[in-house]
Parts: sequence; C-alpha cells; structure tokens
Amino acid sequence: MIRIAFFNHSGGAGKTSLVYHCAWMWAEMGRRVLAVDLDPQSNLSMMAVDTDRLEELWLGGGEARTVYGAVAPLVCGSGEARPAHIEEIGHGLGLLVGDLALARTEEAFAMEWPQCQDGSERAFRVTTALGQMMQEAAERFAADVTLVNIGPNLGAINRAALLAASHMVVPVAPDLFSLLGLRNLGPALRGWRDGWQEARRKVDRVLPAMPGGGMALVGYVLLQHAERLGRPTPWSSTWPRRIAEGYQQSVLGETGPVGSPDPNQIAVMRRYQGLRSLAMEARKPMFRLTAADGAMGVHQMSVQQCGGEYERLCREIGRRVGCAG
Ligand SMILES: Nc1ncnc2c1ncn2[C@@H]1O[C@H](COP(=O)(O)OP(=O)(O)OP(=O)(O)O)[C@@H](O)[C@H]1O
Ligand SMILES: [Mg+2]
Repeated sequence: MIRIAFFNHSGGAGKTSLVYHCAWMWAEMGRRVLAVDLDPQSNLSMMAVDTDRLEELWLGGGEARTVYGAVAPLVCGSGEARPAHIEEIGHGLGLLVGDLALARTEEAFAMEWPQCQDGSERAFRVTTALGQMMQEAAERFAADVTLVNIGPNLGAINRAALLAASHMVVPVAPDLFSLLGLRNLGPALRGWRDGWQEARRKVDRVLPAMPGGGMALVGYVLLQHAERLGRPTPWSSTWPRRIAEGYQQSVLGETGPVGSPDPNQIAVMRRYQGLRSLAMEARKPMFRLTAADGAMGVHQMSVQQCGGEYERLCREIGRRVGCAG
C-alpha cells in the first residue's frame, strides 16, 4: 500500500499545496487517490471542500465525518475506532477530512508512545490508529495511492502519522528557516524509526497491519520562492546547493560531496503567484483554471506551464516509489 506523507516541520514549505495538486494530478492520470488531512489546521480540507459542506462535516456530529471523529473513540476513550467518512472531491479522488479537534489527541498519542516500549497493547492500538484508519479507507476506496498532509511540528500526532507512511517527500522552501528545519527533521526521524523498531521487537503479539515504520525517503521538492509573513524572500542561486547539502547531511545522515544533479532533488517548483488566489477562489488546482475562473491572457500560459510541472513531478515521484504511470 503506497502511502506518501509530505512533511517538513518548518511551516510554509508548500506541503499542503503539493498534496492538493499532486492528488488532483494523479487522479487525472487515472489513479485512484485518497488524500488525508492530518493537520488540525485543516488547510487541505479548506482548499478542497466548500464552506457550507465543511460546516456540515464539522458541526454535524454523530458519525465519523472527520479524521478526529474516526479515531477519537479509541484514542481519547475506551471505544473502538470507526471508519472515516470519505468525501469525494473529484473523480477517483477522496478526502479524509481534517479537523481542528484532532489537536485534542496530541496528549494521548504522546502518553502512549513510551508505553509501546513496554509492549502495552493499548499503546500500540493508539499509536497505529491513524495508520489503521488510512488503511481501511484506502481499501474501501480502492485507492492506488494515499497522500498525507501533515502539520508543521515534530509532535506526537505527526510521529504516529509518519510511522504509518510507506514513503516521505520533504517539501522545502529556499530560506534559512527551511534549512534549519532539515537539521531538526533528520535526527527526529531517525529517533522515531529506531524507537518504533525497538518497540515492535518487544511486543509479543503483533497487531494486524502494524505499520513497518519504513518512511522511505523519496527526496525533496524545492519551492522556488518562499514567502514569510506575506513577504517574498529573494531567490538566491546558493539555495539549491545549501538545501542539497542540508538534506544529505541532516536528513539522510550522509557525508561526502553532493551529486550534480542532486539525486535527492525530485523537482524545483515555480511559484505561481498570480494563479494562487484564483485557484483558492475557484476551489480548483492551479493547473485547471480557465478563463471563466479569471485565468486569462498571460495566466493561461502559466496554467499550462503549471500543469506540465505537476505532471512531471507526479511521474517522477511515481517512478521513485514504484507506482509509475
Ligand atoms: N507553487 C505554488 N505557487 C503559488 N503559491 C504557492 C505554491 N506552493 C505553495 N504556495 C503558497 O505558499 C503558501 C504556503 O504553502 P502551503 O500552505 O502549501 O505550505 P505548508 O507547508 O503546508 O504550510 P504549513 O506548514 O503552514 O501547513 C500558501 O499560501 C500557498 O498557497
Ligand atoms: Mg499545510
């Protein structure tokens, strides 16, 4: 089961935008795609679902309409997890809807993690709850690939989410903040992976579909222009090399010269400033904007360019994770 998490704990690196656009692109390429919003800020859900429908999903109550509703009975209580509602947002494209309330599970995930080391069954059930939820939904939806949107921190929810990922793509922006993010990310990932392998060795009875904690690193996607506090940070030709070195040394823990071209760089993505707000308004990917959405003249050329760029990105990630097409 291919489950790709897009993660870098420095904020604003383009994680959510990449999940959204790659999910649409893969669906257009004929794949069945499940997108999962595990960031309590729920930006992916807000990009994909209109406000009235979100209100129904968030305020409806009762069933497991969001990721929180699905796992809360188990993680925050003594019940069982429930199958999560799959919101169809496009042809062959489903979404497990994010929820601000997911933040309430942070403490439970944090408390159970050390108990895994003692082989506690409940601790394993809680720690694997997000993985089980995604697995069940992907099977029900017959998804070829699951893409996971994760919030910008190294907390316990994210640890549980990443341990359930078969692969990980690291979005990075060309700025110091992103570079520092890579320095923290590598040691955290290694610590989580080692802790999980150790805990799994100790448990007597392996629970069904226990994730392997593989998190195979696919590479990084460099956003061409960063923006902090609404200000663009200027692109400098030194960033690609600094990011390449930071990724190799800190994330992979490898020394030695960086390759040229860097094999860890999956793609450099342009920033389509003019398309961004039109796409948000139309609730569409940037590469599907039309003149009716306001993408006229020079914007139409950008739409084409953007589509080509995301198609190449998806093909390249697909090639690297072994689901080319
Ligand atoms: N290719 C792009 N072209 C134009 N704007 C983009 C592009 N990629 C991302 N953005 C914009 O950059 C900002 C940050 O992107 P995004 O929200 O995807 O980052 P993030 O890593 O998910 O952030 P957070 O850590 O806060 O969750 C957003 O305003 C988004 O619309
Ligand atoms: Mg985000």
